[in-house]
Amino acid sequence: MSDTIAFTLNDRPVEATGISPAMTLLDWLRGPARLTGTKEGCAEGDCGACTVVFERLSSSGARICEPVNACLVMMGQVHGCAVRTVEGLRGRDGAPHPVQIALAEGDGTQCGYCTPGIVMSMYAFVAGGEPPEPTLLHDALAGNLCRCTGYRPIVDAMARVAGHAADAAPPPAAGSVTGNAVLMHGATRFDVPATMAGLLALRRDHPDAWLLAGGTDLGLLVSHDRQIPARVVHVARVPELQALVLEHGRLRIGAAVTYARLLPFLEGPLAPFGAMVRRLGSRQIRALGTIGGNIGTASPIGDTLPVLLALDASVRLRSAARGARLVGIDDFFTGYRKTVLAPDEIIEAVDFEVPLHGDIFQVDKVSKRRDQDISTVLGAYLLRVEGGIVRTVRLAFGGMAATPARALRVETALLGQAWTEATIERAAAMLGEDFQPLDDWRGSAAFRLTVAGNLLRRLYMRASRPDLVVEIDQL
Ligand SMILES: Cc1cc2nc3c(=O)[nH]c(=O)nc-3n(C[C@H](O)[C@H](O)[C@H](O)COP(=O)(O)OP(=O)(O)OC[C@H]3O[C@@H](n4cnc5c(N)ncnc54)[C@H](O)[C@@H]3O)c2cc1C
Ligand code: FES
Ligand code: FES
Repeated sequence: MSDTIAFTLNDRPVEATGISPAMTLLDWLRGPARLTGTKEGCAEGDCGACTVVFERLSSSGARICEPVNACLVMMGQVHGCAVRTVEGLRGRDGAPHPVQIALAEGDGTQCGYCTPGIVMSMYAFVAGGEPPEPTLLHDALAGNLCRCTGYRPIVDAMARVAGHAADAAPPPAAGSVTGNAVLMHGATRFDVPATMAGLLALRRDHPDAWLLAGGTDLGLLVSHDRQIPARVVHVARVPELQALVLEHGRLRIGAAVTYARLLPFLEGPLAPFGAMVRRLGSRQIRALGTIGGNIGTASPIGDTLPVLLALDASVRLRSAARGARLVGIDDFFTGYRKTVLAPDEIIEAVDFEVPLHGDIFQVDKVSKRRDQDISTVLGAYLLRVEGGIVRTVRLAFGGMAATPARALRVETALLGQAWTEATIERAAAMLGEDFQPLDDWRGSAAFRLTVAGNLLRRLYMRASRPDLVVEIDQL
């Protein structure tokens, strides 16, 4: 047990002592570390003013620089990592870093409050060697808000330096932590088990502990609500929870796999899933947030959940007492934010069959903003149409009920029917039999039913008359 959090900060080893492992990285940087370049805007992962970069080397030695929101990260999560803040950026011979020069020369800053966060997002993008394609530039900046300049000069500055990865400071080889870590200070104990057995024993003995993956849901309790947890168990270092395997046509995703790691696997037949994940939060959120966390939160508007329902996924749960059990995703959600997960269990992984050639698989997220927004309605569908007849169909929606749910009556009405516009019209008219959605500020019940019906029409048009469909993203 230790009260020392050891990590690499701006290329130097540091030991943070005398602080709670549940303190946010942002509070530590701006407080004890006196590194006030990193700013606080919203304290809930939305504005990007607190962006810092986590740096590591992949198993193949490739440089990985990921922007994260320091306001959501607890200090215990940082133990053994390498972090770069805006103070740790520099160019050759002591000059400012090329992204700083580009932003200043391009008039990309006025009051400057958002600038350090934007600089760090730009740095991560440039260091990652991505090309200056407009879609990528916008994606990389979508998690950073600026009230003053308008985004054009910022995007232009980023386009000028993109592709010059060699100018970015090389990341240090992050000291990887091996073995269990137990961090303790004040009222909080923070366990970082390195084995499944260790994690399960902690879960069995301390079912009330916060089970923390990326912290993009749980972290808000600390950063925003200022709660002080008595006990946190961080799941990210258990190898089984990091597994990501495509085998015999099935994709198995460990619960602690982040969206950023998952994305390269969501190509080909899974591309509609990938396109949706690129709209889940921002790059900062996707570098921290995990699929296990989305399933664990069990929000009716959790974005991956209707997709997992459409794909007929299985969730693998594990406990020390009973070992592993597989639960079909149809049986997993039992009520508003309630699941079958027992107090001594953890989510180990989720797996599903990749859609086959000829299957119709689509995902549509409808939200008030394109980027960095929670869904109003999300539809995910997997169908097989043979000889003009609907042979199999799974239609799932988020934002339509207390849980993410399938439209079972509509599915029954479609099964065995001719795949025609008239059939889809009848199906759309039946959605009210499956769902009585809530009214809230994101959308009224009537709006949600209308949107879901229109998504079914879009599903049909995309599959049957793609020449007539206009994709908003491509406008
Ligand atoms: C700014 C912002 C934007 C967001 N945008 C979106 C969005 O567009 N769409 C969306 O769906 N979500 C969004 N989220 C919510 C969040 O990012 C996701 O739900 C994410 O998947 C949570 O993963 P995490 O690893 O951060 O979970 P955590 O916060 O670590 O945990 C979440 C819950 O899951 C439980 N849990 C985690 N791992 C396990 C496990 N292995 N076994 C059992 N229980 C576990 C935890 O105990 C906790 O109850 C957003 C959040 C923020 C802050
Ligand atoms: S302070 Fe706004 S994202 Fe962290
Ligand atoms: S320069 Fe003022 S908020 Fe961006």
